Amino acid sequence: MILEKSIEGSLLLQAHDLVLDVVEHGDAAVDATLGNGHDTLFLARCVGSAGKVFGFDVQQAAVGNTRKRLDDAGVDSGCYVLFCESHADMALHISTKVKAVMFNLGYLPGGDKKMITQAHSTVAALSAAIDLLSSGGILTVMCYPGHDGGANEAGLVTDFVNELDEDYWMVTRYSRAEARASTPYLWTIHDVSQKNGQPPE
Ligand SMILES: C[S@@+](CC[C@H](N)C(=O)[O-])C[C@H]1O[C@@H](n2cnc3c(N)ncnc32)[C@H](O)[C@@H]1O
Repeated sequence: MILEKSIEGSLLLQAHDLVLDVVEHGDAAVDATLGNGHDTLFLARCVGSAGKVFGFDVQQAAVGNTRKRLDDAGVDSGCYVLFCESHADMALHISTKVKAVMFNLGYLPGGDKKMITQAHSTVAALSAAIDLLSSGGILTVMCYPGHDGGANEAGLVTDFVNELDEDYWMVTRYSRAEARASTPYLWTIHDVSQKNGQPPE
């Protein structure tokens, strides 16, 4: 069963609040779409100096912007590792379980609007992220059905979450009040396998 929640405020802040509830100092986390590094910095603060953030983006500009944001904020470079690679390949670079994975789909704000996340690699990355999540972990996905290709991508993300076994995964869709079909929305996927006494497949 998928829970539907309508909220008044920012969906991005909602994602942060929910991640904050789950992630503890010393955990590992993934920013699957670096962009300008806002979520990476947020995750770095959540996991603290004893933790680790893994970040992915296919654009060197995004990796550079994120590195600068982390440097400017005084985050120790030993606490993160950034890859200029597709999030679909995250499993090649991460050999530990992670407590949170954040996806913010679409294009780099202020960058080339044609360099958007692609449905097939997004779904591959979601699948890899699910496998990396530790017990009690959270995966968040901001979807933007309003831009070219966005509706198709959002549809495949919906198919993906619909196939998750509800014994192991609690899925919630957050949208803004009075949203239209093109309005962004947020998926959250919580690993509830421990609560239900069984490991995820
Ligand atoms: C909406 S932005 C992310 C915003 C970012 N989370 C922030 O806080 O600033 C989406 C990013 O996804 C990146 N992207 C596109 N395809 C990707 C892929 N296959 N793997 C990783 N990142 C990708 C784009 O280059 C873009 O920077």
